[in-house]
Amino acid sequence: MDMQTITARAGNPNMENYEETYKKFNWDDVKENFSWSKTGLVNIAYEAIDKHAENPDKKNQAALIYTAPGREEKLTFEDLKRTSNQFANVLKDHDVEKGDRVFLFMPRSPEFYAAFLGILKVGAIAGPLFEAFMEQAVRDRLEDSEASMLITTPELLERVPVSELPDLEKIVLVGGDGSQHISFEKEMEKASEDFEIEWVDLEDGMLLHYTSGSTGKPKGVYHVHNAMIQHYQTGKWVLDLKEDDIYWCTADPGWVTGTSYGIFAPWLNGVTNVIRGGRFSPDDWYGTIAEHNISVWYSAPTAFRKLLSAGEEVPKKHDLSSLRHVLSVGEPLNPEVISWGLKAFNLRIHDTWWMTETGAMLICNYPAMDMRPGSMGKPFPGIEAAIVDNEGNELPANQMGNLAIKEGWPSMMRAIWKNPGKFESYFINGWYVSGDSAYQDEEGYFWFQGRLDDVINTSGERVGPFEVESKLIEHEAVAEAGVIGKPDPERGEIIKAFVTLREGYTESDELLEDIRQFVKKGLSAHAAPREIEIKDSIPKTRSGKIMRRLLKSWELGLPTGDTSTLEE
Ligand code: PRX
Repeated sequence: MDMQTITARAGNPNMENYEETYKKFNWDDVKENFSWSKTGLVNIAYEAIDKHAENPDKKNQAALIYTAPGREEKLTFEDLKRTSNQFANVLKDHDVEKGDRVFLFMPRSPEFYAAFLGILKVGAIAGPLFEAFMEQAVRDRLEDSEASMLITTPELLERVPVSELPDLEKIVLVGGDGSQHISFEKEMEKASEDFEIEWVDLEDGMLLHYTSGSTGKPKGVYHVHNAMIQHYQTGKWVLDLKEDDIYWCTADPGWVTGTSYGIFAPWLNGVTNVIRGGRFSPDDWYGTIAEHNISVWYSAPTAFRKLLSAGEEVPKKHDLSSLRHVLSVGEPLNPEVISWGLKAFNLRIHDTWWMTETGAMLICNYPAMDMRPGSMGKPFPGIEAAIVDNEGNELPANQMGNLAIKEGWPSMMRAIWKNPGKFESYFINGWYVSGDSAYQDEEGYFWFQGRLDDVINTSGERVGPFEVESKLIEHEAVAEAGVIGKPDPERGEIIKAFVTLREGYTESDELLEDIRQFVKKGLSAHAAPREIEIKDSIPKTRSGKIMRRLLKSWELGLPTGDTSTLEE
């Protein structure tokens, strides 16, 4: 444990006195900022965009600066109000109604953001998918959500098994020649720029994010408009957003970070949001900061580690002096990365902890708080966090256990789509139990220790071993499969698969590569195992459950622990 402390930036009025703010804070006061407090009705898209577009001092401010190889665009709050209104009218013309699921499967682009906001404006539920998803991953999500409409591109449409999705009535194509399906461009051209927003209740649905657990298919985490209260306030106090900031969140909107903090938090706070398309490269990333004068930057340990390994010369080529505040999420933030950040930017990198299910940040490092490298920080005001045992009893300081949050914070998921049992299983004794193990030190800082289940975190992406195993055994040569996360210095973990072969197949490099490609083409690149090892058998319990823990112990050369349930 590294108990060294890095002192806070002085003179920041937000939470200069953490204890006092924590004591006084009340979520109800935050609600005052939204129309809900006056009318009882609200819409997160209104609060994020239209409200600023109706303000003469703000309407001409850039809301979205889009930058990608070959395309640069700037849209003001007024522009985004207009384009999202147009798309909302397109949806209405095609009978999309409040509560319908409308999915987006396309790259980050100005069209994506207009469509996303348009979906919210009609009161429908948006389901953003990673562009990297392949057929099986796309099908699972569209099937489970019973989505009636999909917005995609002609290239990505090839991965959508349309004929096998009976609920999917309509497809909107962005790009293409307009001869097939509904043409985004043609419909937008004739759509009115005026739209009467569907006012909803704070508890009405707005977003479905699919995420992996250790068993079963990905589950649909359901969020409601009420989450805006927490997006807004954490944007203010954790991202430390001020109206003249230029903010860049590197996350894809297929991931909750790319919606909560790539869309809502900056816009609810009226801040200019930079969206970068295209692939990662250290030069381009530093270049984006320099070119757009990014002042607040939210990224992930994997990206920081890649920048670190690109060496000290690359950042020196760019003027990074606009940066004021840097943050991280998704995986443990190694103290080495924090030391690198101090050297590269002369700034602390602030770790934040939360999950798809929590909808927004819960445990964080704040600009005005002393930081202990390696710690996730302290609970946001209004959030009660604790370490609990398996029965939901609180444990004392320095004892490891389940990281848990007192149920009922504003952005908490309201359901697992069509799976009440799964939803219930998160809660014990009034606590939401995260599945992460952690401890809290005497000063109240939380320290992440690992996952308590078999969920894999590779480059910040959550991968369920079950999903990968299911795909592996669809391969003609594979009889059985067990999948684990193996520690990796750059990616956090990589996916390692153990497989047994069917009769008639023998191990070869070609076969292993073929199996790898099979998973990659079926699910996605990030779900494909980097390592595959052939075994004579896969360890299972007598009830047939794959003992991933045992595979992991073998792999890491650790003691195997209790194996009494192992089948003969
Ligand atoms: O294990 C924790 C890890 O990521 C999980 C949540 O993943 P996901 O739902 O994809 O959302 C991540 C972004 C909101 C957690 O259960 N995790 C997230 N943040 C951190 C972290 N692990 C260590 N430190 C963090 N700051």
